[in-house]
Amino acid sequence: MSYLETTHDVYKEAALTPDVGLCCTTNPIWELPGLKIPKIMQEMNYGCGSTVHARDLSNNPKMLYVGVGGGMELLQFSYFNRQKGGVIGVDVVDEMLEASRQNFKIAEEQNSWFKSEFVDLKKGDAMHLPVEDNSIDVAAQNCLFNIFKADDLKKAIKEMYRVLKPHGRLVMSDPTCEQPMNNELRNDERLRALCLSGSLPIAEYIKALTDAGFGTIEIRARKPYRVLDPKNYPTDELIYIESIEVAAIKDPMPDDGPCIFTGKAAIYYGDADYFDDKAGHVLLKNQPLAICDKTAAALQSLGRDDIYFSESTFHYDGGGCC
Ligand SMILES: C[S@@+](CC[C@H](N)C(=O)[O-])C[C@H]1O[C@@H](n2cnc3c(N)ncnc32)[C@H](O)[C@@H]1O
Repeated sequence: MSYLETTHDVYKEAALTPDVGLCCTTNPIWELPGLKIPKIMQEMNYGCGSTVHARDLSNNPKMLYVGVGGGMELLQFSYFNRQKGGVIGVDVVDEMLEASRQNFKIAEEQNSWFKSEFVDLKKGDAMHLPVEDNSIDVAAQNCLFNIFKADDLKKAIKEMYRVLKPHGRLVMSDPTCEQPMNNELRNDERLRALCLSGSLPIAEYIKALTDAGFGTIEIRARKPYRVLDPKNYPTDELIYIESIEVAAIKDPMPDDGPCIFTGKAAIYYGDADYFDDKAGHVLLKNQPLAICDKTAAALQSLGRDDIYFSESTFHYDGGGCC
């Protein structure tokens, strides 16, 4: 059986019998005025962060969500769109599509604004999306891509890139791990399917996105996720896994490489009112400017003693250079 078949079976089971501890973190389940998340959707929250960020969702964006789970984030996305077929939901597991379809009916009863027809559920595979080129403003996946092995991950990201409009954004949440994992863990199909042994270091995860052509990357959150300990897993050392929230924006690739925002800032504290590097970056005195890692390296290479550089916070939330 291939790891994709094992993954299919794991999520068929999770559709038929909700598994509260599967994947999710202790993130709060957020609701908004008039937005109520049915209990069954909360129990079937198989994500590891949030992909729903209000700042991505103005002007009724056309949305795509791959790997629907119990449908919670599709309902949250619908809140911002409220149009027939405004959110396309794709999943490869029939039972998961059916479970989410039932959950949307419950959501209709609890949310006067919501209609099931706002979500267009389609059977399909992340590696071959049943969606037209350049048709989506915001695409999302939560806790699915970490399961994929390198070649499949490449195909899945390429598909997301294909369906996004220019400047559209891919919003994701996935586990990541900075420690090496042994082959026994890596090749354990069930642990992989459960989002425990497929995760990449953040730098490799970002590279997979920029290799596909995404010109801007934002790391929006980084938080503890799980440990794999030697008593319970085939590992000699304890492995610490985090989860991150990332947006990859289909901006053209700059000639000097992608803009990757990891939450760094520069603060000018010299004698003048501002510092202008004549390369498009103006630092007002004593005001932090969010900078991408590329700009941070360029400014640091100037060797000035009147600019302070903060470390990556992995909590970028907009603005700044580029
Ligand atoms: C870990 S769950 C995450 C569910 C949902 N995103 C959430 O946050 O609750 C993974 C989801 O991806 C679906 N899935 C698994 N393999 C897939 C594939 N190759 N293509 C599309 N969906 C897939 C599963 O059925 C399941 O709904």
